[in-house]
Amino acid sequence: MHGSTYVPKSGLSRWMDQRLPVMRLMHDTMLTFPTPRNLNIWYTFGGILTFCLAVQLVTGIVLSMHYTADTRFAFDSVEHIMRDVNYGWFLRYVHANGASMFFLAVYIHMFRGLYYGSYKAPREIIWILGVALYVLMMATAFLGYTLPWGQMSFWAATVITSLFSAIPLVGEPIVNWLWGGFSVDNPTLQRFFSLHYLLPFVIAAVVGLHIWALHVPGNNNPLGIDVKSPADTLPFHPYYTVKDLFYLVCFAIIMMAFVFYAPNFLGHPDNYQEGNPLVTPPHIVPEWYFLPFYAILRSIPDKLFGVIALFGAMATLVFVPWLDTSRVRSARFRPVYRQFFWILVADGILLGYVGAQPVDASLGGVIPLLYVGRLATFWYFAHFWIILPIIGIFETPKPVPDSIAKSVLHATPAE
Ligand code: HEM
Repeated sequence: MHGSTYVPKSGLSRWMDQRLPVMRLMHDTMLTFPTPRNLNIWYTFGGILTFCLAVQLVTGIVLSMHYTADTRFAFDSVEHIMRDVNYGWFLRYVHANGASMFFLAVYIHMFRGLYYGSYKAPREIIWILGVALYVLMMATAFLGYTLPWGQMSFWAATVITSLFSAIPLVGEPIVNWLWGGFSVDNPTLQRFFSLHYLLPFVIAAVVGLHIWALHVPGNNNPLGIDVKSPADTLPFHPYYTVKDLFYLVCFAIIMMAFVFYAPNFLGHPDNYQEGNPLVTPPHIVPEWYFLPFYAILRSIPDKLFGVIALFGAMATLVFVPWLDTSRVRSARFRPVYRQFFWILVADGILLGYVGAQPVDASLGGVIPLLYVGRLATFWYFAHFWIILPIIGIFETPKPVPDSIAKSVLHATPAE
């Protein structure tokens, strides 16, 4: 940690500083914080994610002033928001598309971490808190999707909660306990609403820890080498405040393009039909950001093992800092790892594609997608548990620059 350079300028700020030095904290973490001078566009996504969280909180709080968490009124209350509440349509579309944009940003943020080895020592805790955030985000999005009480809301809630019934002996009681009854019904909707309101605040608290943990070692950077001298860094403000703001505006423009021109593009038309326990939709699909996990779940023939694989896929991420045995952080200097990184990206997209198709679909009528899904699932686990540890041992990394300043200022083209 760098020493504080905050100097209180008025009597009041001196008084405050001796009692609750929040201004000092803000000054040291957001203005003067020494930040590597080579951070690129991919490092702006942490700030973008914080923005997404704030947008979801603000729009969510206002939406909940008009929403009714009762199965008799929930669907209509959403239509009331869309038609009668001033700018209700805007709030709802920002919130719904905001969730998608939040996930888009988090996937970019996570793959950035995987590419530059940001999870490696001394940043393991930042990474693990990140995984916790990701799981909390998924839980929050799942709970929120139930609230409009459309057909997909109802059936997604039924399918996902029923997964727990695969647990031997206690599965059935657990599912009934989650539902608050013997099917997804009013008690389920009410508790889902309560938890959907609660979890974003838990996320906000974990984000606080995530950023705190980041400020102890400071940012990693695209070269993956440590900061060695003040020449390697720049003060966070104005350099990164301006850069973050620029990309935030670009991101917001893309988000608003969805909100204004294609607000239902990422949604499912069935959710404009009220949830009906007597009519099962022919093809129940989750939102796009869950599709890779949905594919993993469905590719395992046994329900219990499918659920274990699903949760195993998320839990795997926790171990990444120790599964990667390489001494070099950044993929820029890891020619072999870099290839496997891109194969993993392709694998994730393939899993997403498989998850979106009906179970009995096939590629060109020849290769059943079930097998493609199984192969892609195998590859996902193999990447982390087999390939990552092995290439770290056998790969010969390219020479790493002596310092950030040298690499950036006496610009030898970096790749
Ligand atoms: C609500 C979600 C999240 C928020 C608001 C958030 C916020 C941030 C911020 C502000 C930074 C510093 C700026 C940057 O490096 O982009 C950061 C860094 C980082 N985050 Fe997140 N994050 C979130 C989720 C995640 C997830 C899901 C992971 C991984 C599983 C993760 C892993 C990391 C890592 C490893 C760093 C350090 C990067 C480096 O210094 O190279 N974060 N995060």
